[in-house]
Amino acid sequence: MSAPPKTVLEVTQAEAEAIRQAVRTADPRALDGGRRVVTLEDVEALTALLSDPAVSDPIYDLPRPINAQTIGDWVQRCEAERQRGETLLLLTRDAEGVLAGYSKITVWPPRSAAELAGAIRADRQNSGQGGAGAWRTIDWMFETLGVRLICLTAALDNVRSARLIEAMGFARLGERDALAEDGTVRPSLYWEMSRDAWRKPNT
Ligand SMILES: CC(C)(COP(=O)(O)OP(=O)(O)OC[C@H]1O[C@@H](n2cnc3c(N)ncnc32)[C@H](O)[C@@H]1OP(=O)(O)O)[C@@H](O)C(=O)NCCC(=O)NCCS
Repeated sequence: MSAPPKTVLEVTQAEAEAIRQAVRTADPRALDGGRRVVTLEDVEALTALLSDPAVSDPIYDLPRPINAQTIGDWVQRCEAERQRGETLLLLTRDAEGVLAGYSKITVWPPRSAAELAGAIRADRQNSGQGGAGAWRTIDWMFETLGVRLICLTAALDNVRSARLIEAMGFARLGERDALAEDGTVRPSLYWEMSRDAWRKPNT
């Protein structure tokens, strides 16, 4: 279960409402051509993608066990949250139309903050694609959703994630216990990035 950032910003009601509206109306195709909001029609392909432990094992914020029922319920919950302006569950298809990855953006409008989680298909890992996709998504979250703060977590042994998060210039703010839906706790590395720091040249 996603937890909002450690840093607490002062946010007006108008700013929070603008973020909610931006989430509800966001068009992820502007992020990249193959990206769109997950619907119930994607449940089978998404279940297959997430059934691969190389894809889902490092991610705490997923329903478990992973099967068509739990993923279908999750997709419906995420859609209800999207309509409240609080979540975007997105997928990416490759040039052949096959599911290539997913991302989940959790938004806290009253905190002007968001978290990104996601994964790419196992055969696309370790080729630099994850880093490029994460950079584009973070940039889009600041620019299009209008949040001022983004937090990220990774399992203590997730070297690839830590490396690409630090390459993007996120500030490491210690660790935090990430709570999974089944109540298990995963000790995690924790980072934040503010919109002002993101926009600074050479960061
Ligand atoms: C995490 C993920 C998105 C990264 O994408 P990727 O395309 O596989 O990663 P990259 O190839 O860009 O590698 C990231 C960095 O880790 C480095 N790296 C990879 N394996 C490494 C290892 N064993 N030791 C040290 N560094 C390693 C790479 O060299 C690269 O750093 P560089 O850009 O400085 O060369 C992808 O691997 C994935 O989906 N993993 C499964 C789910 C997951 O972990 N999601 C993130 C949860 S926070």
